[in-house]
Amino acid sequence: MLRRRFLQHSALTGSALFFTRRFARRSTAGAQIDILLDEPIGQIEPEVYGHFSEHIGGVIYDGLWVGKDSKIPNVNGFRKDMIDHMRRLQPGSLRWPGGCFADSYNWKDGIGPMESRPRRTNFWANTPFMKKAPDGPTKFEPNHFGTDEFLQFCELIDTKPYLAANARTQGPQDFIDWVEYCNAPADTTTYGDLRVANGRKEAYNVACWGVGNESWGCGGDMIAEDYATEFRRFTSFVPRFDVDLKLVAVGPSDSWNRRDTEWTRRFFTALAERSAVWSNLMNRVDGYSLHFYCSTTGNSSLDYTDEDYYEHLWRADQMEKIITEHWNIIGAFDFDHNIKLYIDEWGAWHAQKTEVHNTHLFGQTSTMRDALIAALTLDTFNRHADKVVMGNIAQLINNLHSLFLAHEDRFVVTPNFYVFEMYKEHQGGMSIPIKIDAPSTGSERDLWGLAGSASQKGKEIFLTVVNPHLSERMDTVVRLSGARIKSAEATIFTQDNVRAYNNLDHPNGVAPPEMTQTSVTGGELTHSYAPASVTALKLQLE
Ligand code: AHR
Repeated sequence: MLRRRFLQHSALTGSALFFTRRFARRSTAGAQIDILLDEPIGQIEPEVYGHFSEHIGGVIYDGLWVGKDSKIPNVNGFRKDMIDHMRRLQPGSLRWPGGCFADSYNWKDGIGPMESRPRRTNFWANTPFMKKAPDGPTKFEPNHFGTDEFLQFCELIDTKPYLAANARTQGPQDFIDWVEYCNAPADTTTYGDLRVANGRKEAYNVACWGVGNESWGCGGDMIAEDYATEFRRFTSFVPRFDVDLKLVAVGPSDSWNRRDTEWTRRFFTALAERSAVWSNLMNRVDGYSLHFYCSTTGNSSLDYTDEDYYEHLWRADQMEKIITEHWNIIGAFDFDHNIKLYIDEWGAWHAQKTEVHNTHLFGQTSTMRDALIAALTLDTFNRHADKVVMGNIAQLINNLHSLFLAHEDRFVVTPNFYVFEMYKEHQGGMSIPIKIDAPSTGSERDLWGLAGSASQKGKEIFLTVVNPHLSERMDTVVRLSGARIKSAEATIFTQDNVRAYNNLDHPNGVAPPEMTQTSVTGGELTHSYAPASVTALKLQLE
C-alpha cells in the first residue's frame, strides 16, 4: 500500500525521488496537452478494438482451439484461457477465417459432424517454414474449427464476427449460401435448415462480410478493375434477412514506404463508370479494407538498437497518412463519406526467429516496443473515429503482433494484451481532439515527443498517451478547454527495459500496468509521463 502511494506521488508530480528504476529516469522540459471538448470527432466504434484469427500456423489449432477431448482446460474445445482473457478485453470484433486462407477456404468443409469433415492442404503449407514443420492440422486442415465453432466462440467472448468470403476459388453462389447458413431463420431455406440440423436453431445474424482478401495478391492476383468486376458480381444480390449487412471491399496493402493509392483510385473509378449508366454502386460498399504492416527493424523482434526502436515507431506512425490519403481519394467518389475504413490487418511483422514452436508460422515474441506500436496505432484510430469503424490487429495468438502465446498446456499474455486492456475504455466513447505541445525525441528518426487520443463518456474523459523517449520522462500539464478536472486516476505501463517480453519459457518478464491516483490542482493535472510508456488517464469533470 505504501509503495503504491509512493508511486502515485512520484509518477504524477515528476518528483526527483522514485521508488523503482522503471519510474526513475531524467525528465525533459515541460509539455502541454489541451483536450478540446467542443470539437467532437465521432463515436469510437467498439469494432475498432478488434482482432484477427486466421487458419495459419498456431493461431487456430494449438492457439484458440484445443478440441473437446483435450486435457488442456477448455470450454467446448476452445482454450479456456483464451475465453477468460478475451472476456477481460471486451473485444469489439473478430475476423475469420483469413487472410490468404480465406480465399482457398470452402466453408462447406467446416460444418456438420467433425469425423466426416474433409481434410485439405492448408494455404500456408508450402511456405519454407511450414515445410519443415511436422504434419498436422496446421499443414493439413482437418476442418474441426468451422463456421459454427467460430460463431460460438464469438458468442462466448461476446464479440461481433466478421467473415471473409472466398472470392478466388469460389463465387457469388457460395457466398450467398454461406450468408443463408448463418442468417436464414429456421424453416426458410435449405442452408438455414442445415444449420438447424447441425444443432443451431437461431440464426447467427452475421452482419460484417468481407468480399475476398488481398485480391491484388494471394486473393487472386487481380488488377483493380478485375476486382471491381468481382465485387459487383458478389454484391448484386445478397440475402438480407433483416440483418443490416456491412459489405467490405478489398483495398490495398500499404507499407511504411509505399502507399498503393492507385488501387483505391482505380477500384472506385471502375465502380463509378458502371454507376454512371446503371445505379449508384457506391451504395454497395459499406466498408473499404486497408492492410498496413509496419514491417520490422533490427535483427529480430527481441534484438534491436535504440535507433531501430525509434525507426520502427516512426514506421508504425505512417498509419495516419494511410488513413487520410485513402479517405481523401474515396471522397472524390463518395461525396458524403458513407464508405468507412476497415483496417482489418495491421501490426508489426518481424523476422522469423522468435517463434515458440515450429508450427507457429509468423509466430513472434513481442516486447514493449510492440506494445507502444499497438498503443500509438489505437490512438491513431481514435483520432480518426469519423473514418475508421473497424480495426483488426494481426493476429490474435501465436502469430504476428499477438496478444497471446500458447503451446499445448502453456499460455501467456504479451505486452500487447495489456495495451488492449488499458484502451478498452475508449470503446463507444466520443472521440475528442487533443492538442499536444511537446519537444520531439531528438533521435536520428525524429519522432513526436508525445502522441495520444481522448474520448468522452458523459462527465468522464479518457486520455491515452505514448511517450516514446527511451530515457526521458515528460512533465506535462493536462488541461480541458472550457471545463475543469475534478479528479483523475492513472494507469501506467512501462518497464525497466523496453526489450522486456513474456514468452512461454519466460512468462513473467513484463510487469503489468499499475493503477495510481492523482492529485489535481486548480482544475488542471500535472503528470510526468514515464520513458517508453503507455499511460491512460481517467479524468472526471467538475
Ligand atoms: O496475417 C498474415 C497474412 O498477411 C494474411 O493472411 C494476409 O492477408 C496478409 O498478407
